[in-house]
Amino acid sequence: MSTKKKKSKPAAEKAAEEKKPELEKAETAAKKPAEKPLKEKQPEPEKKEILEELLKPEETIEAEGGEMSESLIMVRNLEKHYGDLHALDGVSMNIEKGEVVVIIGPSGSGKSTFLRSLNLLEMPTSGEIIFEGVNMLDKHVDINVHRQKMGMVFQHFNLFPHMTIMKNVTIAPMKLLKKSREEAEEKAHELLRRVGLDDRAQSYPSQLSGGQKQRIAIVRALCMEPDVMLFDEPTSALDPEMVGEVLDVMKSLAKEGMTMAVVTHEMGFAKEVADRVVFMADGKILETGSPEEIFSNPKTEKAKQFLASVLS
Ligand SMILES: Nc1ncnc2c1ncn2[C@@H]1O[C@H](COP(=O)(O)OP(=O)(O)OP(=O)(O)O)[C@@H](O)[C@H]1O
Ligand SMILES: [Mg+2]
Repeated sequence: MSTKKKKSKPAAEKAAEEKKPELEKAETAAKKPAEKPLKEKQPEPEKKEILEELLKPEETIEAEGGEMSESLIMVRNLEKHYGDLHALDGVSMNIEKGEVVVIIGPSGSGKSTFLRSLNLLEMPTSGEIIFEGVNMLDKHVDINVHRQKMGMVFQHFNLFPHMTIMKNVTIAPMKLLKKSREEAEEKAHELLRRVGLDDRAQSYPSQLSGGQKQRIAIVRALCMEPDVMLFDEPTSALDPEMVGEVLDVMKSLAKEGMTMAVVTHEMGFAKEVADRVVFMADGKILETGSPEEIFSNPKTEKAKQFLASVLS
């Protein structure tokens, strides 16, 4: 896996701002005839093209192979009501390709609801989720195709108890991605080796520890070759001595450029790995910033209280 470029939206906007003087020059250049035509009949660049080029966010200009890039996930004004309960209250967030976003906040603040809404395990009441350019809430979109590109790991691993580990991790790629058994198993072995569990391929889930089962749950999600991994408190049901082995797998994924949205109370992980920390309370995003900004200088009273309770 390649290391991907990480750019937050504000940086991209800033880059576009900085290019404004160039833009003005380009506009003037486009108006005037070129002083020295390169060659006769060489067409002058269209003004519109120059404007578009200069107004592109930096990451778009720099994208390798000239491909267009945009935020991998764009969430706009997401609302979720459970009866009278307002679980998500106007949540908007972009997740860039290769970015690791850690979501923190008190119990009941809507973190799981948000994560589960991203792949429509929870149907939002209103709002927009654009994933890889596709509006996930468009009735005409085949949700399953796009949902497969979002791997999800929960607190409880939900492995099939009557299937071997190998069967657990290859069933979806064979059924949904139509991979041959050979191809699915080859990929599974590669990923099992990565998490140090290839020798357990023929074991059953009940023969594994909690930490091992959670590493298998990560492999199961990765076997679907997702473009983003969503983790909802993946270590909070584990015995303390098993937390590290799961966080290590997540850290290595992050280092390899996997896009990740992680709900966790593991603040050490957030500090070390997150590009951005998002603090939620009462169904809203109250703060967002670098780990440094959020942990050292929380602005809202709610974030201060929450951090004091989890960091003490
Ligand atoms: N299926 C549901 N039906 C009704 N209310 C729900 C449902 N799921 C969540 N809620 C409520 O929505 C609110 C947000 O819940 P959510 O599980 O998203 O919080 P959370 O931040 O993940 O909390 P925790 O840290 O405890 O996991 C809570 O008040 C919760 O009780
Ligand atoms: Mg939760």
